[in-house]
Formats: sequence, structure tokens, C-alpha cells
Amino acid sequence: MEINKAPCDREQFNHFGKSSTECISPADCRPGNGHFLAEVLEGLRKPQKELPPKYFYDDRGAQLFEDICTMDEYYIPLTEASIIDDHIVEMVELLGEDVLLVEYGCGDCAKTRILLNHLRQPAGFVPIDISFEQLQRVSVALTGEYPGLEVLPVCADYTCDFELPAPCRPPARKVVFFPGSTLGNFDPLPAQLFLKEAGRVCGPGGALLLGIDLAKDPGVLHKAYNDSNGITAEFNLNLLKRINLELDANFKLEQFQHYAFYNLAANRMEMHLVSLREQRVYVGGLVFDFAQGESIWTESSYKYTLAGFEKLATSAGFGVDRVWTDERQWFSVHYLVKDGCKRGAASRRG
Ligand code: AVI
Repeated sequence: MEINKAPCDREQFNHFGKSSTECISPADCRPGNGHFLAEVLEGLRKPQKELPPKYFYDDRGAQLFEDICTMDEYYIPLTEASIIDDHIVEMVELLGEDVLLVEYGCGDCAKTRILLNHLRQPAGFVPIDISFEQLQRVSVALTGEYPGLEVLPVCADYTCDFELPAPCRPPARKVVFFPGSTLGNFDPLPAQLFLKEAGRVCGPGGALLLGIDLAKDPGVLHKAYNDSNGITAEFNLNLLKRINLELDANFKLEQFQHYAFYNLAANRMEMHLVSLREQRVYVGGLVFDFAQGESIWTESSYKYTLAGFEKLATSAGFGVDRVWTDERQWFSVHYLVKDGCKRGAASRRG
């Protein structure tokens, strides 16, 4: 990464202008616990009980997700990283100099580092994540690894309103990086609204660099969400543990079982927690009854065709400027620009 040493009041680039990388602390825009409780109660009151997947990521959940990402069965991170590696020169060319890179749901920033290693004079990096501890750890690490890079972490639920911090050096453009197929966790309408909002955040001349998983052999998908080490099961069950800890609930974890399957008609993996017996659970002073075999739907992971994803992007006001895929066509990375702002001569499939 080349860094342009532009003048700035802040001694060392970080959110609070602290000179030590030890003190970097994310801007805290987390919604309060009342919001968590309200969403949990709303989900559990539905005829098909459900819980929002964004609540998987407390500190333990974030760690379990990192563990999932190291397993071969969960092919997404490695496949996406190999696509970025293979096409990094072209990607960096598109992002250009002085870009403000904004990452939604940055996690441990594993893929971001491939970009940061090659970006030319980035104006700054805004990692956004709901997991405060992990965001703080990764921001400290990045500030050490990339001296001179202005890191502006924001701890927020990026599906809600939050303020994008301004870097010291005005950026030439803003690019939202949204890897890992996290958009696949949104149902189609919220996915469209989310893309529209991301388009507003990146503003005129901005773009989205987005990874999305592709439809494939259901057997491969089944293994990815039912790993042999049981880590995905633990990740799923950890949501109940978190609710017990934070919302005064009494889920008995041993009375629920992880269940994940591919819903072919809807093009999505579904994760559920199935009640192994008839039981009664208290959450925030309210009672919820479960029949034996009844499930809580905890996550959908939509799998797209390239044409299907282009349709979604177009409906949100974006044009697909570039698409890169791996040899097996398991995963895709898209460079999306606002309609009428195409930088490349024509869409290319890599
Ligand atoms: C974060 N998200 C894209 C993951 C997915 O594949 O839907 C979360 C996950 N759930 C189970 N394994 C991983």
C-alpha cells in the first residue's frame, strides 16, 4: 500500500486522534439492549418463530464465525480470497487513488488486507461491525500493520442509520466493500433496500465491491452449513446462550438442535434451531411455548445465479461494471457502479 502523507491535525490516524495504537476505540453507534429485546420478542411471537441473524455476532459468536471461516467445508472465504488475489490488479485499478474504503461487517478483515496491501494512497478505511471487542482488536492491529493508514472504526448495526466518519484527507471516491456473501443473509426486498442505501452512502462516483455466493450442488451447500466439527451448530446455538445472558431468558441449549438445509425452491440455505421436546421458555418476562419439533428460523443464506444477482443490482440502481468468479463458478465478486457511471467499456466476466 502506498500512503500519501497529507497534512492532518491528528497526530496518528485513528478515530480519536490518540497517538498510541493501544487506545484506538470505535465510534459506538450500537443500538441499545432495548432494541435487541424488542426484535427477539417480535421474532418469537411469529407463527414461524424467528430470530435476526445479525445477533449471532457477540464476542463468542464472532469468534465461532472466524473458526467456521477456517474450515474447508465452508468454502466461501477461501474461494472469495482466491478471486480477489487473482484479480487484485484490476480491482485496485478500478478503486483508484485516494479511495475511502468502507467495509460493512468487517469481522477480522482477512480479505480487506489483500486490498489494503495493494491500494494506492487510500484516503482512509472505515471498518464497520456490530461486535465491539473484535472491531477494536482488528482496528488496533490494522493501525499497527499499515502505519499512516487512517482507520476510522464504527461499531454499528449497518442496517440502521449511522454516521460515516470523514477522513482527514478528502477522498476521490467512496467504495463500500461488502464481502463474504453477507448480502445473501437478506431476503430479496431488504437486500434491494440495503443496496439502495449503500448507494446513498458511497455517493456520486462511488461504487460497491461485493462478494455473493452462487447457486451450486446442494450437497456442497449442505456440508458447508453442517460441518463435521459441529462449529456451525455451536454458532447457531450460541444465539440462545446470548439471549439467556443478555435478555434474562432461560433457553435450555441441550433441548434445541441445529438444523440446516437447502431450500431449492427459494434458492437459500436455511438454519433453524429445533425444539427437541415440548417446552416453555421465558424471555424478558414473557412466556413462549414450543411444540416438539417446532423450530426457530435463525438465518437464510440466498444463493444467486449471475443473471439473478444482476437483476437485483439493477433494481437497486446499480450497473454491474465487472464480475469475477472462480473456476468452479462457486462464488462471485461484483464491482457495482451507480447507473450511468460505468467506468469500464463493457461488463466482463472473469
Ligand atoms: C455471514 N454469512 C454470509 C454466513 C453465511 O454463509 O450465511 C454466516 C454463516 N452461517 C452459517 N455459516 C456461516
